[in-house]
Amino acid sequence: MSKIERFDAIVLGAGGAGLMCAAVAGQRGRRLLVLDHADAPGKKILISGGGRCNFTNLNAGADRYLSANPHFAKSALGRYRAEDFIALVDRHGIAWHEKTLGQLFCDGSSRQIVAMLLDECDKGEVTLRLGEPVRGVEHGDGLFRVAWGDSEATAPSLVIATGGPSIPKLGATGFAYELARRFGLKVVEPRPALVPLTLSGEEALFRSLSGVSAEVVARAGKTHFREAALFTHKGLSGPAILQISSYWRHGEQIGVNFFPDAAPDWLIEAKRARPRATLRATLARVIPERLAEALAERIGLGSELANLPDRALLEAGRRLADWRFSPNGTEGFAKAEVTVGGIATAGLSSQTMEARSVPGLYAIGEAVDVTGWLGGYNFQWAWASGWAAAQAL
Ligand code: FDA
Repeated sequence: MSKIERFDAIVLGAGGAGLMCAAVAGQRGRRLLVLDHADAPGKKILISGGGRCNFTNLNAGADRYLSANPHFAKSALGRYRAEDFIALVDRHGIAWHEKTLGQLFCDGSSRQIVAMLLDECDKGEVTLRLGEPVRGVEHGDGLFRVAWGDSEATAPSLVIATGGPSIPKLGATGFAYELARRFGLKVVEPRPALVPLTLSGEEALFRSLSGVSAEVVARAGKTHFREAALFTHKGLSGPAILQISSYWRHGEQIGVNFFPDAAPDWLIEAKRARPRATLRATLARVIPERLAEALAERIGLGSELANLPDRALLEAGRRLADWRFSPNGTEGFAKAEVTVGGIATAGLSSQTMEARSVPGLYAIGEAVDVTGWLGGYNFQWAWASGWAAAQAL
């Protein structure tokens, strides 16, 4: 057994949140240790944004996040903003562009973001230990004692930054929740989010449209997103569906408007303009042919528009504007980009991310019950919560 090393803080997890926290605290003169069981840091950063890391979003306000306490994220997001991360990216000479909806991506590769964070950790003289699982965490006399491999370290502060259980093959675990519970913190039930939805029964027939996509408004309850939806061999995906999946609960329906720009009586207008056209041909003027065929078939109005009463066309228009799907599930944590739920914010300070009942214990990043929309929001939360904790270490 090697000697026990002493640090000012130990960060568990070398993802975006953990690296940011350690780099900032290290540069504030603290002695930081970061531990990760993975053999390389920032694996989720590497695969993010299709390899180009959608590293922030210009619109990252608390209203873009799900949490049992919708106000919790305000403090950290307000003090470490997208602009602050952009300034860091610029200082490292990383070229970037806005793709859409305020989403910022690297021009080159996600590897640049990991390299930047590691460089910042170097500047803060952070010690990084990878590739060995944490064997034990003890707490007593104001010190946390962490054991991994054949090593041990102590520190007055411990930061839980081990993320959520989405994509276990990348090393994701529910370790954060186990640890939090051991320290008496509550955990809001974790669910897969930003995840494709699956269809079964009658609706499984839509799977034959696999590969077809269309711009839609997808809705769950009062929340809706206008983006692309994609039919898959298991059900529904694409940005609009991923977004709505975070709000969807088992047993609920989602509504999809396949004609978000159309007036309620647009099919009656179409009948006046092209009376000889079928419903299928009319739909196919706006949406992909295969989708038009599938929807028209299900509506069941086969003849030319001229032969269809206005009432039936109005009703068809209504159905197409709020097509109800009843997903039977999601593709689960194996395919979820993030986790909704996590360490309950009620037990944490929104200023510092420190546990109210356990001085010196912090939780940051995806481990916490704060989940962003698709589009760079989750990384901005990782950076902001990591930065906020680092000010207090
Ligand atoms: P993260 O999961 O990144 O890091 C946790 C670390 O803890 C990991 O390194 C893990 O190995 C380690 N760990 C886990 N258990 C451990 C244990 N028991 N002991 C030791 N270490 C342990 N977001 C965004 O804003 N823009 C984007 O473009 C994308 N794209 C994207 C694509 C894909 C495919 C996924 C899966 C996710 C995204 N995301 C995203 C979400 C984003 O990746 C995610 O929100 C952040 O990585 C969360 O950062 P954390 O540091 O909190 O956890």
